[in-house]
Amino acid sequence: MRVLHVAAELFPLIKTGGLADVAGALPGALAQAGADVRVMLPGYPAILDSVLHQRRLLEIGPLFGAARVTLRRGQLPYSHLPAYVIDAPYLYRRPGGPYQAGDGSEWSDNLQRFALLGWMAAHVAAGELDPEWTPQVLHAHDWHAAMACAYMAAHPGTGAASVFTVHNLAYQGLFPHHEFAQLGLPVRFMQSHGLEYHGQLSFMKAGLKYANRITTVSPTYAHEITTHEYGCGLDGVIRSRGGDLSGILNGVDGRVWDPAHDTALASRYSADNLAGKALCKAALQRELGLAEDARAPLFGVVSRLTAQKGLDLVLAALPALLRLGGQVALQGSGDPVLEAAFHAAAFSHPGQVAVRIGYDENLAHRLIAGADVILVPSRFEPCGLTQLYGLRYGTLPLVRRVGGLADTVVDAAEPALAEGRATGFVFEAASPAALEGALQRVLQAWARPADWLRLVRTAMAQDFSWAGAAAKYLALYAGLVEAR
Ligand code: ADP
Ligand code: GLC
Repeated sequence: MRVLHVAAELFPLIKTGGLADVAGALPGALAQAGADVRVMLPGYPAILDSVLHQRRLLEIGPLFGAARVTLRRGQLPYSHLPAYVIDAPYLYRRPGGPYQAGDGSEWSDNLQRFALLGWMAAHVAAGELDPEWTPQVLHAHDWHAAMACAYMAAHPGTGAASVFTVHNLAYQGLFPHHEFAQLGLPVRFMQSHGLEYHGQLSFMKAGLKYANRITTVSPTYAHEITTHEYGCGLDGVIRSRGGDLSGILNGVDGRVWDPAHDTALASRYSADNLAGKALCKAALQRELGLAEDARAPLFGVVSRLTAQKGLDLVLAALPALLRLGGQVALQGSGDPVLEAAFHAAAFSHPGQVAVRIGYDENLAHRLIAGADVILVPSRFEPCGLTQLYGLRYGTLPLVRRVGGLADTVVDAAEPALAEGRATGFVFEAASPAALEGALQRVLQAWARPADWLRLVRTAMAQDFSWAGAAAKYLALYAGLVEAR
């Protein structure tokens, strides 16, 4: 099975969130399962600097405002998978993030930048750019890669099938409608049954309308996005795809997230030898200036600071959490209002609340290992990876029952508790009162060390490997290829 994965970020080369973790792990898991997998990435400096053995395949242009576009083929470091890199200096070679400049503003030419990504991928799928290799399936991730599905639909001769994965419906890639002419698509793609979305152009809709199959990253989110509450205005479009949509849960990359081999930690540990976890907690408390107290339950947060993540609930429940004797360690960045509020909380409660604003992969590992509980109170969560990392590290997730969080954490209530299936704490309403109720249950369990230990061991025994997800994607690809 030949599959081309198209994504705008890929761990460890460039990452803003869980999408990079998935793009960094799923292609390798598919290759392990026997598929012939390649990836295609925009040539940001971080990609051009890290992809190995690059050679030029061809040069084209002008395209989407770039005078010259060079398609290179190389090899990803670590996984050694073949990678196509689009070198378009005018569009991609600049300092800053993949979607935004250093000051947080969206790049003004994102329409051109991600139309080019989709266009190149579709033309590889059509066999027009690399005579040596043509995929049977093009798998596009999120709105940044979604235009590949529209360009494939515009080339009905393309033999490949398309799969579009929604990682987050809230980010849609909306652009002014008058820019349609720049996309080089037939006029029918401009209409409301095409890319038009309330007078704008939606790249997300390109995936939702034109992909042969749509997946999202958990079964519960696959259902939720067909509803008005979670559909971000696209639920009607999604419902119209009927059975073409399914949910496949993300996995954990055990090469990156494994407490027994994690070199970022003060001490390594496993379910059979948890002494190292206690050392990680003490080291984290020291590092962050928290009171070095093994008996205080330490609540960790590693997150983008956006409305999605429900961290306003943590701020509202903070007085109760501290009254109960808890500590909080937060690492994140994003919304300046949330950043300032957490800074203020740390300032008011030295020794009990520690906040690190910024992005630091190693600190994320130390924090997830050193905390007792990982807090993920999201308002919506397509899958969520930090609660999976928490499970793996014996750091019990406290989550809201939504999206992938609902699919991955078993609440510590009867009968799951007695049956030894419980792995964390789950609350329902997105309200401070509901979170406070869950915090009280955490403290009750914390007061019973034998029960806590059992929860930790059950959590660490969960298997969210990528191999299982890869098998499901392969079955989906096989069905599509067979049907063509
Ligand atoms: P999302 O993709 O919505 O941000 P996920 O839970 O799927 O949420 O993935 C988040 C990923 O980003 C995880 O790998 C998490 O450890 C990482 N992450 C988030 N914020 C930070 C940060 N400030 N520093 C380091 N890693 C972070
Ligand atoms: C998105 C979602 C997150 C998911 C990640 C990877 O960023 O917000 O829930 O885990 O994609 O699929």
